Amino acid sequence: MDSSKYSLRDFVYIPDADIMERASIFQSYMDDVKEKHHYQYRRVSLNGSGPTMEVVDTYTGEIKEMIYMASNDYLNLTRHPRVLAAGQSALLKYGAGAGSVPLLGGTLDIHTQLEKDIAAFKGCEDAIIYTSGFGSNCNTLLALLGKQDIAILDQYVHASIVDGCQRTNVRYFRHNNMDALEKILARAQDEYVTKLVIVDGVYSMDGDIAPLNKIVDLAHSYGAYVMVDEAHATGVIGRNGKGTPEHFSLEGKVDIVAGTFSKGLGAVGGFIASNSKLIEYLRFYSRGYMFSTAMTPQAAGSLSEALKVITSEPELRQRLWNNINYFRNNLLSLGFNLGNAETAIFPIIIGDDWKVKEMGRRLHEMGIYVNPVFYPAVSRKLSRIRISLMAGHTKEHLDKVLNALEYLGREADVIGSAVKEKIAATIE
Ligand SMILES: Cc1ncc(COP(=O)(O)O)c(C=O)c1O
Repeated sequence: MDSSKYSLRDFVYIPDADIMERASIFQSYMDDVKEKHHYQYRRVSLNGSGPTMEVVDTYTGEIKEMIYMASNDYLNLTRHPRVLAAGQSALLKYGAGAGSVPLLGGTLDIHTQLEKDIAAFKGCEDAIIYTSGFGSNCNTLLALLGKQDIAILDQYVHASIVDGCQRTNVRYFRHNNMDALEKILARAQDEYVTKLVIVDGVYSMDGDIAPLNKIVDLAHSYGAYVMVDEAHATGVIGRNGKGTPEHFSLEGKVDIVAGTFSKGLGAVGGFIASNSKLIEYLRFYSRGYMFSTAMTPQAAGSLSEALKVITSEPELRQRLWNNINYFRNNLLSLGFNLGNAETAIFPIIIGDDWKVKEMGRRLHEMGIYVNPVFYPAVSRKLSRIRISLMAGHTKEHLDKVLNALEYLGREADVIGSAVKEKIAATIE
């Protein structure tokens, strides 16, 4: 099969093929993706997240040290000595697992401590914690919204939110577009019992920030609530790294603050912070919480310490922002299209699936680990190389990546006039 003629979407459903046949057709697609060296998934790391990473090369089998530009471990807390020590001591004290679901025996004092810590960090009364960020969003929304309600979603919200809205009415508004949001709010005004506007604080594919101040004003003026997913904002934006509400001085004004423990906080899990009544309700009605074993002690121990580190070591966030500014200014002066990216996530928009796959292959060969993103993850005209930065990247790492991008961008003719002029000047 020629994989360049298909995308992952083509194998969601194949008429008359049962699940085994479908999997087998998909396999022949993937075999060709691998044959073309466009398979950039599940690269195996031997030492875990860091500015560089030892990776087993999928194609040669060799172990190589790569500059890791695809981690959400923005502050490198996965390896912070205090975070490691706290996780280790929780592991030794409480064991490898919590032993039961939270309501029926699995709640440890370090779980209730983490609930308090994350609620305080987010300026909310209480919080519920889950073992994954995906499960957190999805199960919370499944528990809260039904047929009588409506979820009003930015078109780019995360899949966990989309999946959580399967039991309710859903309307999408154009990304970050307040006129489009207002039209939906106006139409929904008297029709539904609960109206919940849901946005990401920082968008995972675009690295831009939701205009949360306008969203909250607008939603509240139409009697709707607001939920913000802080997965990529926590630890990164806001004066103290507390996220989008802090960035817009809205602490305590957003009805539901969701987030993950897996990115800026360096471990795993998710949370929902809100008023104490809503949180207690969720503890009894959110099936993914009730019927799933509580977070591992090691994660809970590490996470309370990670929250302390974010507050006591602002220099980590400062280092991340120095890197963001340096990388961004250089990419822009080279003429790359970064959309409206403002944070640690850089979409280098190429707008051609084949070129993105080829650039992904070449970057991998050069020892630079990025995520090529193409249809159906984003529309074809917005296909991109997605890069994310960490506090621990050095100027040498960033320069090496910038040089490679300039070289490949020039080769593929995907950079704007700025670089073309620069190149022309060198040739003359
Ligand atoms: C915006 C957003 N929300 C939720 C999640 C799910 O979080 P987790 O990976 O912790 O399950 C992710 C990413 O993976 C995300 O990007």
